[in-house]
Amino acid sequence: MKTAAIILAAGQGTRMKSGRAKVLHTLGGRPIIRYVIDQALALKADPVIVVVGHQGEQVIEYSEQVYGHRVQFVWQKEQLGTAHAVMQAKKALSGFDGQVIILYGDVPLLGVETTRELVRKVRRTKTPVGFLSSFPPDPSGYGRVVRKNGKIVRIVEHRDASPEELGIGEVNVGTYSIDCKYLFSHLGGLGAGNNQKEYYLTDLVAIAASEGHKVASVEAAAWEMEGINSRVQLAGMEARLQNIINTRHMENGVSIINPATVRIEYDVRIGRDTLIHPFVSLHGETVVGENCIINQGAVITDSVLMNGAQIHPYSVITEAEVGPEAQVGPFGRLRPGAKLLRKAKVGNFTEVKNSILREGVKANHLSYLGDADIGEGTNVGAGTITCNFDGYNKWKTIVGKEVLIGSDCQLIAPCEVPERAVLGAGTSLDKRTSMEPGDLIITRPQSTIIKGFRDKLEKDSARIKAERAAAKAAAEKKAGKKDTARAKKKPQKSDSESVACQ
Ligand code: UD1
Ligand code: CA
Repeated sequence: MKTAAIILAAGQGTRMKSGRAKVLHTLGGRPIIRYVIDQALALKADPVIVVVGHQGEQVIEYSEQVYGHRVQFVWQKEQLGTAHAVMQAKKALSGFDGQVIILYGDVPLLGVETTRELVRKVRRTKTPVGFLSSFPPDPSGYGRVVRKNGKIVRIVEHRDASPEELGIGEVNVGTYSIDCKYLFSHLGGLGAGNNQKEYYLTDLVAIAASEGHKVASVEAAAWEMEGINSRVQLAGMEARLQNIINTRHMENGVSIINPATVRIEYDVRIGRDTLIHPFVSLHGETVVGENCIINQGAVITDSVLMNGAQIHPYSVITEAEVGPEAQVGPFGRLRPGAKLLRKAKVGNFTEVKNSILREGVKANHLSYLGDADIGEGTNVGAGTITCNFDGYNKWKTIVGKEVLIGSDCQLIAPCEVPERAVLGAGTSLDKRTSMEPGDLIITRPQSTIIKGFRDKLEKDSARIKAERAAAKAAAEKKAGKKDTARAKKKPQKSDSESVACQ
């Protein structure tokens, strides 16, 4: 039998206190909605319809970018409740005959197997309505499953529940499997007579029960059923998910010295025998090969590390590629488009952007290499800078293989250095410089030597000091005479004052 899926993602997520739609907040580095759409696709549901409302444009834009036409969207302009949201998919499913899986966009970690079991049970028991229930350690906030003699009679929302109902430990996960025809022929009959004045999808359970149907339920585990309504819940789930991700990598042969301190996002892939030190962050779609070492404090985003690459402490790597056995850091910085081939090395405080460092290149200290192509085996001396930007345009620097670049050179782009050339320390080289392979270039001005300069400097300085001291003494002597004259006058003034005080 066919299945379709409806994902509810129109709500504002008021409890998140955010300007962003709740389903676009990230978990494990990817928007929450992505986990839910992945579930629907893994269940082979067709069509998959996402109900959007709050910031629907952004939700559509993101989902289309990831899933293309595999997902459809319908709008719920006003958010009048979960039943009203499902209603918006009625037209899109007009010709559909089968089960509709309804998933809430804010329940990301639900296992596909659990939902599949629900679909099977609904089919097996020939009931029109089934849903997932669970027994979380803290049921507050969730809808409670009310049973009479073991039979499900209704779901009551936390806000609408009596004190007795609040004591129920079984809750509604928010995942349903409902016969399509039954769904749309009954949704219209639901009221909004509840605390929130919303149309609750959960009320369909009471209707089915009152019609004499045995509503099916399948139990989900506590770890997978949680919905995200607040940032506190999001952080809690983030911690649990990180644990799951770390465990998955360790089980695949990756060593993580202190798992509680690392951040490894959901889509990151890591090869076996790679060693991850504390406080490492691996983001986005980073791919790490086998036998790599990633040292403390490295932050790596959307990058590729080939087998045997080593990242030394506190290096930051973004949209870059580190070749086999290549090394970066400590304090190395690879920006977008940086590509290190086999055994290339980028050392302390060196920044590389949109450049290729071919096999065995070493740029070990304090350099900036931007828009450059550095040939095999070339040594880039400390403090070498490619001056790639003229204020308006960026230009390329091309360096041949086995070049020796001395310390503190400036390669003013566009420029080219032939293979095996030697650049003396402090060389400034630009497009006018034409060298042949193997040439040496020195652009330092000729040194000038003044014999005995220091002695002369000392002598001059002593003479100037003595002259200044003499001038000062003469000035003081002159000033001293004036002071005596003034001192003679002063008592008269103080006399007159003391007279006045009497
Ligand atoms: C809902 C359930 C509750 C269950 C809990 C599980 C109802 C009435 N309650 O409560 O029984 O225990 O989920 O996590 O269904 N949405 C729309 N349009 C709307 C309203 C909501 O698309 O008009 C979407 C939201 O974006 C969200 C989902 O539906 O993705 C659930 O809505 P939410 O307000 O979070 O419901 P809960 O109060 O968590
Ligand atoms: Ca929710």
